Amino acid sequence: MEIEKIRKEALAELEKAANAASIEKLQVKYLGRKGEISLLLRTLKDLSVEERRHTGPKLQSLKNELEGLFSNRLSVNKEVSREKSVDLTAPGKKISRGHLHPLTLVDADIRKIFLSMNFSVVEGPEVETEYYNFDALNVPEFHPAREMWDTFWLKRDPAQKNEEKLLLRTHTSPVQIRYMEKNEPPFQIIAPGRTFRYEATDASHEINFYQLEGLMVGKSVSLANFKFVVEEFFKKFFAGQKIEFRYRPSYFPFVEPGVEVIIKLNDKWLEVMGAGMVHSMVFEYAGYNPRDWQGFAFGVGIDRLAMIKYKIPDIRMFYSGDLRFIKQF
Ligand code: FA5
Repeated sequence: MEIEKIRKEALAELEKAANAASIEKLQVKYLGRKGEISLLLRTLKDLSVEERRHTGPKLQSLKNELEGLFSNRLSVNKEVSREKSVDLTAPGKKISRGHLHPLTLVDADIRKIFLSMNFSVVEGPEVETEYYNFDALNVPEFHPAREMWDTFWLKRDPAQKNEEKLLLRTHTSPVQIRYMEKNEPPFQIIAPGRTFRYEATDASHEINFYQLEGLMVGKSVSLANFKFVVEEFFKKFFAGQKIEFRYRPSYFPFVEPGVEVIIKLNDKWLEVMGAGMVHSMVFEYAGYNPRDWQGFAFGVGIDRLAMIKYKIPDIRMFYSGDLRFIKQF
């Protein structure tokens, strides 16, 4: 009887409890160490076996019921009071969003600029054959110019004895040949992509980096066209900065003549690009008659452009995976 009375009382009081503090008080009153139910549980041992069997489970189930009810009401109550305390005038919290890698940003920039000049973007494989990376670019075996590109050669599968030697492309120039083999001029393309060199790394050299290849071929494409395209590109890429250009003779086996583009930014002259008029041998390898076509080609390091643009002192930062670096972009 007493148990039922306690239950009714407890429920009635809980009904009236207006806030978390008063619910907590009830918890102590009924379930605390000296609470009514705890005291009754302690008197069980004085009862006869028969009475204990009768009263024990009832008491225990009341205890469970009240525990559940109290903690439910408490959590609802806390939720409500939290809602009430939302300060709508407080400044918003910054939502943390992902960041694009600076090389991704520069790559997107470059594509946009060349697309605006009617260039198409093409791609080629990162694992290349010796033929496309060297021979077809007028760099036959034992040509001293091969030493310009320290190469990662891939192990040959002994089962494929007659297959060509494979390598990780040392530049994006093989895409020139692959594209010309399948397409007729006139055209203008860029080929951005990953390149690899077996080199010691330092602040400006990585074993894995990105290049951008450019190729324009037509009936009367000239160095003057090259100058226009390249200056237009750099002016847009470094928009808002004063920029000057210089051209120096240079040597690459796949162009004749070859030039190096040097730009002046913030009073500093920087070599930024290798380029030239496509060599007649390259046209022949690609299956074009060199008497019919002429064109220019260029190659530029995307990492180096990103370093200049964002004033990054060490190329290795791009590949460090350090979030403190990435989060700045
Ligand atoms: C070439 O790779 C030629 N294929 C470029 C070319 C294309 C010339 C078409 C003429 C016509 P070079 O080895 O200089 O050239 O490399 C071009 C650019 O790649 C360099 O100017 C530099 O910006 C970048 N580069 C070269 N090696 C590394 C490296 N280890 N780490 C980062 N960037 C590099």
